Amino acid sequence: MSIDIEQVRADTPGVSHVNHLVSAGASLMPQVVVDAMVDHLNLEAQIGGYGAANQQSEMLGGVYDQVANLLGAKPQEIAIVENATVGWCQAFYALPLKRGDRVLTCQAEYAANYVAYLHRAKRDGIIIEVIPNDAHGAIDVEALEKMLAEPTALISITWVPTNGGLVNPAQAVGKLAKKYGVLYLLDACQAVGQMVVNVSEIGCDFLSATARKFLRGPRGIGCLYVREALIANMEPVVVDHFAANWVEKNRYELRSDARRFETWENAYALRAGLGAALAYADNVGLANIQKRAWKLAQTLRDQLTTIKGAQVHDAGVRHCAIVSFSIEGLDPVETVAALRAKNIIIGTSGVDSSRLDFEARKLPLLLRAAPHYFNTADEIGQLVAALKDQIK
Ligand SMILES: Cc1ncc(COP(=O)(O)O)c(C=O)c1O
Repeated sequence: MSIDIEQVRADTPGVSHVNHLVSAGASLMPQVVVDAMVDHLNLEAQIGGYGAANQQSEMLGGVYDQVANLLGAKPQEIAIVENATVGWCQAFYALPLKRGDRVLTCQAEYAANYVAYLHRAKRDGIIIEVIPNDAHGAIDVEALEKMLAEPTALISITWVPTNGGLVNPAQAVGKLAKKYGVLYLLDACQAVGQMVVNVSEIGCDFLSATARKFLRGPRGIGCLYVREALIANMEPVVVDHFAANWVEKNRYELRSDARRFETWENAYALRAGLGAALAYADNVGLANIQKRAWKLAQTLRDQLTTIKGAQVHDAGVRHCAIVSFSIEGLDPVETVAALRAKNIIIGTSGVDSSRLDFEARKLPLLLRAAPHYFNTADEIGQLVAALKDQIK
């Protein structure tokens, strides 16, 4: 079944205020997501935070099943945390990497992850090696296989980078990780919610994601997937009395599930919002979402070719719903502000989010638009017309 766009837009109050084309930053929440959070906050106001969590325990506990369902994982493999970075760091810092251990990453790696590699290079002496790109600018899988001839502690890559249409070959990387018995950490922050994701098909051991982007959930909440067989041997960097039972004066026992990467106190209203966002996405259908969002992005790419001096800075062969571009003579920051004044919302993407890629391709600060399935071809047309007006 295809998407009922009128319904989806009626469900999304933001579309009557703005032409929101920046779901790679933070998307527009459907009203049901807002309602779920407000209802939970009201319940907290009425009966107290603990009472509200108790009363809603089934729904709140069910969010683990929903995340698992979205990722093709098991509920016990899911931790719900503050954001994608916290989830990613929980996995990365729990790995007992030591001096000389090789970590292979990609050219399009996200800044937060790369800074963490540098931190552990400084602190623990790990060695960071970057997998070269193929001729299209995606991870070169053959080059990766050659690199795996040497002992490797971890492959850690970004699936969909923050700054463009690239979709790295996550599954092909997963096959190699399995073949060579190397742990595989996947940053799926920009993929989850715009694409069909299945951790078994990808073959990753860890995956991190966030709610506010293509999932259309609230800010301040994200998740981590950890493959079940690995959990028992992972000591989180932070351990409290939720992550572990304090069983004797001098001994604790870590939880057996991925929630050992959580702590006791949580934003239950946000969790309720995440649950509503997951239900909403599931109802629309991830395959439908991917098809429409990618098609709208392609429409934008096509229409940008009609603007003099416009250049789309995609990499890879398949292109997702993130479109990064530049237009000769237009300053990105001023352009974003001018469009915002017309209620057209896009953003910028710069070297600080993906330094290796920006430097290798000598990219300037870029404009970034990311349509989602609730957008329309008309809205893409409005953006392109407004950009043309800016040039005049
Ligand atoms: C590729 C990628 N990974 C990770 C993150 C971090 O997500 P969060 O801000 O939820 O920690 C982002 C955010 O833009 C991202 O684009």
